[in-house]
Amino acid sequence: MGKLTNIHQVEIIDLPKFEDPRGNLSFIEEELHVPFKIERTYWIYDVPGGQVRGSHSFKAQQELIVAISGSFDIVVDDGKEQKTISLNRSYYGLYVPSGIWRQMENFSTNSLAIVLSSTKFSVEDYIREYGDFLKYKGL
Ligand code: TYD
Repeated sequence: MGKLTNIHQVEIIDLPKFEDPRGNLSFIEEELHVPFKIERTYWIYDVPGGQVRGSHSFKAQQELIVAISGSFDIVVDDGKEQKTISLNRSYYGLYVPSGIWRQMENFSTNSLAIVLSSTKFSVEDYIREYGDFLKYKGL
């Protein structure tokens, strides 16, 4: 599944945005704004300054990460190349395919990261050691 993916498949998805003097509204529909069926949603919040989350890869899980509030950086790595994407708008989603090593860092105060996942939670889907990740990618 994730063996052949690379960081060029990581992309910012522009979400709909209804600007309104009463406040803006954005939304996500599965298989329209995310290229997968949404099986799970989780969020990361109350991150103390300087903390890093999500240093791992998934064999099957694809995801869309949205900075609902505040900002943070996502470092994505396919074993050969690495890039950092800053998310700071609630109408951008970052699509991350399976088989990408990713780390979330530089969380601003009160930032809120929401992650839409293509899979239910599974411990077996995680690759937590970078060496194992490189092996998985055949590198
Ligand atoms: P984990 O994905 O390891 O967090 P991070 O890599 O960002 O530091 O998740 C932390 C803990 O939460 C871990 O023990 C598993 C649990 N967890 C669930 O039970 N269900 C979920 O959907 C997620 C994302 C995590």
